[in-house]
Amino acid sequence: MGSNLARNLASREGNTVAVFNRSYERTSTLLEEHPEAGFVGASTYDEFVASLAKPRTAIIMVQAGKGTDAVISELASRFEPGDIIVDGGNALFTDTIRREKAVRETGINFVGAGISGGEEGALNGPSIMPGGSDESWVTLGPILKSIAAVAEGEPCVTHIGHDGAGHFVKMIHNGIEYADMQLIAEAYDLIRRGTGKTPAEIAEVFAEWNKGELESYLIEITAEVLKQVDAETGLPLVDVILDEAGSKGTGVWTVQTALSLGTPVSNIAEAVFARGLSSHPEQRAAAKGLAGPDEAGRIPADQVDAFIEDVRLALYASKIVAYSQGFDAIRAGAVEYDWNIDLGAVSKIWRGGCIIRAQFLNRIADAYDETPNLELLLSAPYFAEAFTRAQAAWRRVVVRSVETGIPAPAFGSSLAYYDGLRADRLPAALVQGQRDFFGAHTYKRIDKEGVFHTLWSGDRTEIATTPSTH
Ligand code: 6PG
Repeated sequence: MGSNLARNLASREGNTVAVFNRSYERTSTLLEEHPEAGFVGASTYDEFVASLAKPRTAIIMVQAGKGTDAVISELASRFEPGDIIVDGGNALFTDTIRREKAVRETGINFVGAGISGGEEGALNGPSIMPGGSDESWVTLGPILKSIAAVAEGEPCVTHIGHDGAGHFVKMIHNGIEYADMQLIAEAYDLIRRGTGKTPAEIAEVFAEWNKGELESYLIEITAEVLKQVDAETGLPLVDVILDEAGSKGTGVWTVQTALSLGTPVSNIAEAVFARGLSSHPEQRAAAKGLAGPDEAGRIPADQVDAFIEDVRLALYASKIVAYSQGFDAIRAGAVEYDWNIDLGAVSKIWRGGCIIRAQFLNRIADAYDETPNLELLLSAPYFAEAFTRAQAAWRRVVVRSVETGIPAPAFGSSLAYYDGLRADRLPAALVQGQRDFFGAHTYKRIDKEGVFHTLWSGDRTEIATTPSTH
């Protein structure tokens, strides 16, 4: 990904790019393979730093973790105040906050920048989410704008906020990516097992969906993956791929972070858990033979089209929930870490270049254009209308999943979240009563101010109290 980003930079008018890798062999291979880039190859840190114009800007693309600290320290010991070190990897945002603080003390700017779009995006235009200081953005802004994807005429990069804000937003991007992929996978499974359609036939369904409101990179590549035939066996490739989903950790970080912020990203969590469940073959083997519904039952032929349309609507509704939860987590993070994040600007830079790029992001951008401080994304008029259209189908799909034993945890939990938000009264009142019963945790009342406790083990009268906990 680093070499593709360097090639992207080098292809822009007026840029000369210096490249450095711990192994000079890799650097010389890059130079040989891409003479058109006009790279300046460095074999040592000293040579690399000496070749940069001032203020120096270096973009690090290494595996997140200790390696990043080592490279930062090599560069920082040679850079001067005003120079900029950019970490373009998927670093944990709290590491970025720590690194930025340490590097800032030397007068050097450290910028954690989330970069999305994979290998191809890095080369042809990624979506870029830089954090760091305002000073760094003055130099870095034009550079990043020149290499970013363009959507609706605007470059897919914006200064997200200080220190770790960029990596925080990239982490949430990845959380949403997990949710979107899981929802698409559930839609595929429900159609496959519900209708008996082949992967190639389902590829056509996804290709068709990609012409409408679900149009997105992930739907597009899903059709491509489902079409693929394994050269060795002649079977659909999806049928010979081991069904254990891996992960590099950004989805887990999203959920851990959201838990500590008290923000329910249930859809993203289900996606992470689903990957976890898939990756425990021994437990799945132990569960073989457990009771399931008598007959999964195929959808009658004359109802297949209607069922597929139900799944499409359920996918769209669940997708709105996933994105709304993701944007909620960004809002909560901005409050916690004191970042001034423009959610509308985030939705705009995700319209191109990144893995979750989708038509749908235009609707989110519209919602924030209309109401910049929108309390709840999914309540925006456009989405409220979409739920009105989709909710009956969404419920039918979840019911069918439950009845047939075809798991659709992300569909189900999105619907439960939606209904939870809509409810006039939640059973949280009972939970508060239980907490007060065993722990004197107190409760508030709907009809008067104050905090109360019932003397459960005494005469059960209610007393006004000062809260010990909340
Ligand atoms: C991107 C991707 C990219 C990568 C992640 C997720 O935005 O370009 O999100 O960062 O694919 O590492 O990978 P895992 O599924 O392995 O966690």
